[in-house]
Amino acid sequence: MLVTTKKLLVPARAKKYAVPAFNVNNLEILKAVMSAAEKMRSPVILQTTEGAIDYAGIEYLAAMIRVAAKGTVPVAMHLDHGKDLSYIKLALANGYSSVMFDGSSLPYRKNATLTKRVVKMAHAKGASVEAEIGALAGIEDLVSVEEKDAKLTDPDEAAQFAKETGCDALAVAIGTSHGAFKFKGKTHLDIERLRRIAKLVKLPIVLHGASGVMEDVKKLAEHYGAKLGAARGVLDLDIRHAIRNGVAKVNIDTDLRLAFTAGMREAVSDLPKVIDPRKLMEPSMTLMREVAMRKMKLFGSAGRA
Ligand code: G3H
Ligand code: 13P
Ligand code: ZN
Repeated sequence: MLVTTKKLLVPARAKKYAVPAFNVNNLEILKAVMSAAEKMRSPVILQTTEGAIDYAGIEYLAAMIRVAAKGTVPVAMHLDHGKDLSYIKLALANGYSSVMFDGSSLPYRKNATLTKRVVKMAHAKGASVEAEIGALAGIEDLVSVEEKDAKLTDPDEAAQFAKETGCDALAVAIGTSHGAFKFKGKTHLDIERLRRIAKLVKLPIVLHGASGVMEDVKKLAEHYGAKLGAARGVLDLDIRHAIRNGVAKVNIDTDLRLAFTAGMREAVSDLPKVIDPRKLMEPSMTLMREVAMRKMKLFGSAGRA
């Protein structure tokens, strides 16, 4: 069934588990994630960025996700990092059940004003809204307390923002960043800051940039020639702490990208005589399914559908 993110996330926050939100760009990623969700009996959020929409076309993406939602687990169709209002309108017109307005790079007032506009538009269509306050930044780049306070989410500001905008979920910055290179030294999230936010904001909290850069997947990709250097992700332990402290939606893109890449490299290298793309994409799909299932176990969403 196609549902809103609010419907999935409110019980998740209350029961201290998180719903995985996977970025989907094509049929193979979507099918691997759905096969994992059905197997694990997990609710799932299928999200597409503006870039994914430019790549695949929103009609294709929305149609595929609608088919996925006809299965036996609840599915939300979500716009990830909508920065341009034209994409928000496009997503709502194409039946998305949820949109993110990402005004995190804007000054507070502008972010709040635009978020309120998006809330009005989305709620009129029965869709939920995720908003963001604070800038996602590698925590090690923020050396002083002043720098951290300037970039990472301020708890009082988050509370004011949630109240003022009427959004349904709030993405916060506590030291994660997008991509495969999150930490140079010790990996570390500002869980204390999250605790203070969660005390004041009772909405489901969203963690972006939450991929773990799983060691075995990284090794496999490197074995087949990928050059990933010092790629590092968020520790499982930190993810567990974050979920215990209010995070109810965890965004994963990089870990699927790494699995896709590892599987493709393996297939191309090990199957030199194969030219059938369906066969060449099998290892990627198997690995992405495995990664998605591991996330569902880690987030505690397995068995909640
Ligand atoms: O923040 C989400 C993604 O990891 C970036 O995805 O390349 O589709 O914009 P994108
Ligand atoms: P990762 O790059 O850590 O997978 O984060 C993805 C994300 O936040 C998508 O919005
Ligand atoms: Zn993100």
